[in-house]
Amino acid sequence: MLQIFPDAAVIAEYVSELLIQKIGDNPEITLGLATGGTMEPLYARFVAKARARRLDVSGLCSFNLDEYVGLSPDHPKSYAAYMREHLFRHLAFDPARLHLPDGLAPDLDAHSREYSERLLQMGGAEFQLLGVGTNGHIGFNEPGTPFDSRCHVVRLSERTRLDNSRFFEPGVIVPASAITLGMAEITRAREIVLIATGPAKAPIIAEWFRRDVTEEIPFTVLKRHPRAQILVDEAAASLLPPEVRASMMEIPALG
Ligand code: GLP
Repeated sequence: MLQIFPDAAVIAEYVSELLIQKIGDNPEITLGLATGGTMEPLYARFVAKARARRLDVSGLCSFNLDEYVGLSPDHPKSYAAYMREHLFRHLAFDPARLHLPDGLAPDLDAHSREYSERLLQMGGAEFQLLGVGTNGHIGFNEPGTPFDSRCHVVRLSERTRLDNSRFFEPGVIVPASAITLGMAEITRAREIVLIATGPAKAPIIAEWFRRDVTEEIPFTVLKRHPRAQILVDEAAASLLPPEVRASMMEIPALG
């Protein structure tokens, strides 16, 4: 379940290969996609390989985890813009199959219900990618979010807004709220891969390891998911007990 890799590039190599395999096996797969700095090397590697191998991505369907409330899809800091920049514009996806929450929906609660329904009608995600916040959030499900929560509007914690301020120009205020898939839709995915890289994630990875499943640390829910992998680089693993680090350094075989 927890695997330690030498660095972010090796994780990107492994997960991009896994994604290509999944899409090859089922060209109409439903993917759950994530944003954030952690995903950038993965998407770059995936795009390069998919191009080189002429992978057909036109049949796949994707659902992003979250979007800031108040940002239009054209806003450069929206997650819609992030996805275009890092993934969608590089390959021949079918735009009608790429789903993101709409941060400008006039009725956000109704939109959240509709987004959740749209995903459930597809049978949920077959393969869900996740990053993790320094407070353990997944999507934008902040600590304390019930595990049975569905897609909803969330007020972001100060910690999350501060962490994400690095993506905004100095002086620009990070949106105060977001729409996120809930813990229920995320954990309904048949298979989940969570990636955590860099030293800023080391404390929460160590906490994840120490603690039982608790809503206070949202991603501990993955401990009871039958097919969840937590992939960390050595920097993010640096606060795990040394004997644990030594036993988890093997790179799993694909397939
Ligand atoms: C953001 C996103 C999450 C992401 C996390 C980590 O707030 N909503 O989906 O996984 O924070 O981001 P990063 O990869 O930039 O550290």
